[in-house]
Amino acid sequence: MAAPFLTFEGLDGSGKSTHLRRLAAWLESRGESVCVTQEPGGTDLGEALRSLFLDRRYRTDGRIEALLVFASRRHHLLERIEPALAEGRAVLCDRFTDSTLVYQGVGRGVPAELLLSLDEVATGTRRPDRTLLFDVPPETARRRVGSEERARSGEGVTRFDAEELPFYQRVRKGYLRLVEAEPERFRVIDSSGPREATFSRVLASVADLFPDVRFPQSGAAGGDAPGEAG
Ligand code: TYD
Repeated sequence: MAAPFLTFEGLDGSGKSTHLRRLAAWLESRGESVCVTQEPGGTDLGEALRSLFLDRRYRTDGRIEALLVFASRRHHLLERIEPALAEGRAVLCDRFTDSTLVYQGVGRGVPAELLLSLDEVATGTRRPDRTLLFDVPPETARRRVGSEERARSGEGVTRFDAEELPFYQRVRKGYLRLVEAEPERFRVIDSSGPREATFSRVLASVADLFPDVRFPQSGAAGGDAPGEAG
C-alpha cells in the first residue's frame, strides 16, 4: 500500500495540531516513517509567504489571501509532500486546500469556481487520501485559543484572530458541506470532549491506512503520547 497523504482540518482551537503531533509520535514509536508539515508554510518560501499571509498590517481581500496560500501550497507540494510520499513516508499535513475552500471561499466569499481553478494550477487538484475534520462549536474553539483576548489586546494577533464569531460559524458550515460532498475522504472527529477520547477516534479513523501497524481494538489510545495542550 502506498504511503498515505493525510490532512488535518478544523477551526483554530479545534485540537487538530495537537492530535496531528500526537498521531505522528504514536506512528513513529511503532516504526512508521512520518513527515509532519503544515500550511501555509512547510518550506522556506512557504514560511515566508505564511508570515505575509497572517500579518494583518497588510490590507488584503480573500483573493489575495488565496493567491498567497496557493503559491505556498504549490511549493510545499513539489518540495516536500510529493518527495516524502515517493520515499514511502506517510505525510501528516496541518491544513491543505480544504482550508482555502472554507476560509477564503465560504468565510471571505471568494467564488468556489475561482478557488478550484487556482487549485488546479497549484496542485493539479491533488487530494489527500484522508482528511480528519476536527469539529467543535466555534465558541469553544475561540475560547481554547484565546483569540478574543488576543484580538482585544492586539498582541500576537493574526488577521484571523481579528475575525468575529459569524466568520467562524460560516467556516464550520463550509467544512460540513465539504464532508457532505466527499464523505469517503473525510472523517469527522468530535473534538469537543476529553482529549483521550478524541485521540481514540483519531486512531480508529486512520487504522485502515497503516496495515503494518497494530491499532488498539477499541477505546484505549495507549498511554505513551507526549503531553499536549489544547
Ligand atoms: P494555522 O497554522 O492552523 O494556525 P495556528 O498556527 O494559529 O494554529 O493556520 C493559520 C491561519 O490561516 C488559520 O486561521 C487558517 C488560515 N488559513 C486560511 O485562511 N486559508 C488556508 O488555505 C490555510 C492553509 C490557512
